[in-house]
Amino acid sequence: MNYLAVLVSGSGTNLQAIIDACESGKLPETKISVVVSNRKAAYALERAKKHGIHTIYHPLLPYRKAGVSRQQYDADLARMLLSYPVDLVIMAGWMHILSMAFLRYYSGRVLNIHPALPGMFPGTHAIERAYAAFRAGQIEHTGVMVHRVPDEGVDVGPVVAQCVVPIYAQDSLEDLEARVHAAEHELYVKAIAQELGIHIVE
Ligand code: GAR
Repeated sequence: MNYLAVLVSGSGTNLQAIIDACESGKLPETKISVVVSNRKAAYALERAKKHGIHTIYHPLLPYRKAGVSRQQYDADLARMLLSYPVDLVIMAGWMHILSMAFLRYYSGRVLNIHPALPGMFPGTHAIERAYAAFRAGQIEHTGVMVHRVPDEGVDVGPVVAQCVVPIYAQDSLEDLEARVHAAEHELYVKAIAQELGIHIVE
């Protein structure tokens, strides 16, 4: 069996795509052992609970208030995950940069998804920024990428999968968001299969 830990902060649509792929057998012999959120209200936590997946809420604020370092926060995150079987750590909208205090425990085994092509629009609001760049005539398409997370960079690292997402002149921002998210859900499942060395069952 292959085990995933999924780190989330928001709605969890990527998490849902991974849950569905595990449950349907599209990702054979693969299970999510734990979902961690840094936000209590993240809908992703509800999605996990509905499927009987262990959840952990790990907020940063108490660390900040107590003057405790980000490194300690990340080391504590690693310590919590170490009590679960984890082959791959999947960042699915986790809106914190992971420091080496975490990454050293999972070297080469952390993936992140970013709703843009490599090197484009790192950080938050990538789809919005791609839409504005298209409107300004600066880009003709956008995309999605999945990369390994070797260090503390923002949305950068060895790319394991990417795909182009077209933008059409008549698109609203919502149209583009929907197209990018649909592409993410498919690409992330493919990238996870590739990293685990298993074949997707369609
Ligand atoms: C996704 O679009 C993901 O690519 C993005 O956060 C969203 C989470 O959505 N991540 C980044 O922008 C990383 N810089 P979800 O909670 O519905 O999966």
